Amino acid sequence: MTQQYGISEYPDVDIVYAKLNALISQPIRPVNRQKMKEYLEYFENKCKGSKLLIEEAKNFIPGGVQHNLAFNYPFPLAMEKADGAYLWDVDGNQYIDFLQAGGPTMLGSNYAPVREKVADLLKNCGPVTGLFHEFELKLAKLIQQHMPSIEMFRMLGSGTESVMAAIRAARTFTKKKYIIKVGGAYHGWSDPMVYGLHIPGTGRFEAKGIPHGASAGTKEFYPNALGALKRQLWLNRFRGGTAAVIVEPVGPESGTRPVPKDFNQKVRELCDEFGTLLIFDEVVTGFRLGLGGAQGYFNVKPDLTVFGKCITGGYPMAGGVGGRRDVIATFAAGIGGTGERAYVGGTLSANPLSCVAGYYALIEMEKTNAAVIAGQAGDRLTKGLQAIIEKYSLPFVAYNQGSIVHLETSGTMLLDFKNPIRLLKELKPRKHMMEEMGAAYMANGLVTLAGSRMYTSLADTDEVIDDSLLRFESVLKECHE
Ligand SMILES: Cc1ncc(COP(=O)(O)O)c(C=O)c1O
Repeated sequence: MTQQYGISEYPDVDIVYAKLNALISQPIRPVNRQKMKEYLEYFENKCKGSKLLIEEAKNFIPGGVQHNLAFNYPFPLAMEKADGAYLWDVDGNQYIDFLQAGGPTMLGSNYAPVREKVADLLKNCGPVTGLFHEFELKLAKLIQQHMPSIEMFRMLGSGTESVMAAIRAARTFTKKKYIIKVGGAYHGWSDPMVYGLHIPGTGRFEAKGIPHGASAGTKEFYPNALGALKRQLWLNRFRGGTAAVIVEPVGPESGTRPVPKDFNQKVRELCDEFGTLLIFDEVVTGFRLGLGGAQGYFNVKPDLTVFGKCITGGYPMAGGVGGRRDVIATFAAGIGGTGERAYVGGTLSANPLSCVAGYYALIEMEKTNAAVIAGQAGDRLTKGLQAIIEKYSLPFVAYNQGSIVHLETSGTMLLDFKNPIRLLKELKPRKHMMEEMGAAYMANGLVTLAGSRMYTSLADTDEVIDDSLLRFESVLKECHE
């Protein structure tokens, strides 16, 4: 089968890094103060309903908000309606939605053909029985059809859980100790993975409440530093070995630090040299880059693949791990296991609702060629943003991997621990600028991911993208020197 992918042209990574390095070597260029004041007034004047709800929520919910990706400056907005490319808040304001719930809604929000299948299932079966349902099999077979490396598939509840499970299977199978990740990569919030989180080189910096032992078997290496990876693999060999190397195949934080195109192949070769399993975390890239995932696009076969997000088309609960039959077989469920198995479970994992939603979401993505269309929208958005950056001689950087679009204005995500003094000095102001940019876009009717990333979907027509570009321009042109 010929696969189609949403990346029409892989970014020239050297050029991207040159621009990103130039961006973080100069002072920040936030929206001018007068304009920012006006944008903040938008929230006070037009978002009164959200404000009331959030004030009350703060008494019941820590911080008043439960999503890490939620935009929450100056205060979070409460959404009421979602349809296709748009969201509406409780005050009736409309937004173009480039958050896409953090990535799962590739078909656009609340896609009717999937919703109808979910509703049919609910009528007959409800969301859960705790027993086997045929759609578990249908989904597993469909995934294998598109990703041949997935000889077996185990559905789970989230990306975080699935990373945990993949690590456990890798250790059970190889009987080795270490897991190596890329510094800055996000693999969910399990104990061993809250290590080198967001910012490369920071190790246990974010590991509040996590005992040392829980991440004692985790190591990180700087993004794209294959020599450092090889050194770590070599060192680990004398201390219990490396069970697996886990990567986000477009680069940490969904390609915020993009990988050179041959990076994954080189990691594969190193894993083979050291008898280590390769885990692709395709929570974001799985089905978004194309039905064959990043592994199809890069033509690299991982031993294990972690899924989330798109695997249920935006419905709960989105997670799964698949791969080599001999490794995945360590999960065999049911009463009477051998004691050799890697323990995984979950009351609601592989429930019929998630499986039916996932199955029909993938069928619809195939029918509509969603990854390619969303990728074209990503290209159009990126080209438009690059033109705006050039027009106003801004130091900002826009690039994309298909429907994953990056717009770096503050460069926060590019700081690292190699230069701890700069990190200490610049993290706070750059983070604040990122928040401000998110708020400025929002006040102009654009929902982004943390003010620096956009996911495009099947619903993003040329008209939607062109409308969004006008809105982006009105913000970006206010970032004077
Ligand atoms: C690459 C990657 N891995 C794992 C996760 C965790 O998935 P979940 O939020 O479903 O636990 C995420 C979530 O954003 C992710 O982007």
